[in-house]
Amino acid sequence: MCGIVGYIGNKEAKPILIDCLKKLEYRGYDSAGVAILNNGEINLVKSKGRLAVLEEKLNHIKVEGTMGIGHTRWATHGEPSDVNSHPHISKNGSIAVVHNGIIENYIQIKEFLAGKGYEFRSETDTEVIAHLIEHNYDGDLIKAVLKTLNELEGAYALGVLSIDNPDMFVAARKDSPLIVGLGKNENYIASDIPAILKYTRDILILEDKEVACITRDKVDIYNQLGEKQQREAFRVDWDVSAAEKGGYEHFMMKEIFEEPSAVKGTISPRIKGNEIELDKLTITDEMIQNCEKIHIIACGTAYHAGVVGKYIIEKLARIPVEAEIASEFRYRDPIINENHLTIVISQSGETLDTFMAMREAKKRGSRTLAIVNVVGSSIAREADDVLYTWAGPEIAVASTKAYNTQLSALYLVALLLARKKGLLDDGMYHQYLDQLQQMPDMIDSVLNKREQIQKFASQHFNAKSIFYIGRGLDYALSMEGSLKLKEISYIHSEAYAGGELKHGTIALIEEGTLVVCSLTQDQLFEKMVGNVREVKARGAVVLAITCEKNASEVAKIADSVITIPDVDSVLAPIVAVTSMQLFAYYVAVMKGNDVDKPRNLAKSVTVE
Ligand code: M6R
Repeated sequence: MCGIVGYIGNKEAKPILIDCLKKLEYRGYDSAGVAILNNGEINLVKSKGRLAVLEEKLNHIKVEGTMGIGHTRWATHGEPSDVNSHPHISKNGSIAVVHNGIIENYIQIKEFLAGKGYEFRSETDTEVIAHLIEHNYDGDLIKAVLKTLNELEGAYALGVLSIDNPDMFVAARKDSPLIVGLGKNENYIASDIPAILKYTRDILILEDKEVACITRDKVDIYNQLGEKQQREAFRVDWDVSAAEKGGYEHFMMKEIFEEPSAVKGTISPRIKGNEIELDKLTITDEMIQNCEKIHIIACGTAYHAGVVGKYIIEKLARIPVEAEIASEFRYRDPIINENHLTIVISQSGETLDTFMAMREAKKRGSRTLAIVNVVGSSIAREADDVLYTWAGPEIAVASTKAYNTQLSALYLVALLLARKKGLLDDGMYHQYLDQLQQMPDMIDSVLNKREQIQKFASQHFNAKSIFYIGRGLDYALSMEGSLKLKEISYIHSEAYAGGELKHGTIALIEEGTLVVCSLTQDQLFEKMVGNVREVKARGAVVLAITCEKNASEVAKIADSVITIPDVDSVLAPIVAVTSMQLFAYYVAVMKGNDVDKPRNLAKSVTVE
């Protein structure tokens, strides 16, 4: 939800902290702050608003020091304001804390501390951590942090510095991401790897409830009991430019343009000699034969990928699949047994609802397979098996390339299951594999239609409401198209199954209402043509998305047609979604919205 960084070394901390925070701003952008230790004093500068506001403030203040922590916030407790911004300082001013996560028992701790004379300046849950560490401190910061963590309930990634310890700071995590970056005579912490990639590629991952003591020349990691832990660093081999805009106006556009390579990177290494090989998956053939049901659990865009997964796994592998929103699954006492497989999907690998739903499924005996983008993330580490979507860092809050790669992974899983169950003959199987490998080129051809899509967006960016309709996989696709539009354009939008429209929603269609109709499914084409006619008859303006072979027929009934290459219906969503993402993008740009950081949202949702 928020982004945290920390630096200790021989360079000035201020520009490094700001630089790293710029890479984390996607995680939260309503306020920001830094605390830098110098000559026995904590220099605290924070402000409401985007990071640029803090940066401007810092340009006019002399803040020196070679150790500091920083934060960019997405408000949970208390409105965005200077005082609610992090870092938070303890009562006597000796300890500063940055935090990402939610402390569930902060009210009880607050009452306890109030009884001891602590006064609270902010409305945040984080402030209690600073005071509690001070309360537990008897000269050993590590011990004080460990004791404090024992008293906290909830999720946290923390950076802590204290006046008494000018040559070290402390980091800790539980259920919120935090990595340590190792440099030469300098070390870093950050909420994710891209934030510090410019400075180091050697990374340590902290496990839940571990505490790291970070000095200039070493990092010691302790478990909950204060016992020292051994940890191997790993080297990141991505290109630094993967986390830069690279000439594009927005990350979102850059990431849409990366879809062909991201899809290729997800599919190609897993097709070896005409067979699918899924990394080191430990699911046995026997488990597949005995699999009674699959649950696909995720949130937002990842959930929409899961809905596509349901259609294709059921169609190809004939295993019943339930696709479900993680926050619902968690609390509905789901019926699961050891012959069920649970697939969780998450770009960040940190979404709390998805993570907890996965734990719930595991607890009930199900095997878990995680389709995740961020390597080493919490979900990836806790699942029985992981299938990484090699999309590279996704920075824009609106998920784009992650969706196509999640679909790619789901197609691989569906085809593998179908193959193992003997449901696809060689011919069909190899035909699917061939087509799957053509996806990057097909997405490319949709990208080449961007000017046409931009023109259509320019005619409709003032729409009050936009409906998306489709049947079968086109319905699943419409859900994602509609979400993309609302989150960045702020236009009201709903996705409906074409056949369901007449049961109520069609009452909302009036003269000029824009309806985006997807007609990519051969089997349902005529039915959708009927639905297009129904909305046209009520005055709708129709933007149709269909395959080239149907373009002329659809052009007779729609106001505009965007064509995608002639692709097998089963694979169509992976190609067609790109046109919807581009449409949402151009509408948002024309409305003058902040495309990469839409209001009220954050990239990684680590609260319930
Ligand atoms: O990191 P995750 O894939 O678990 O995130 C799930 C959703 O929060 C995410 O897809 C969200 O809906 C995006 N803003 C959609 O663009």
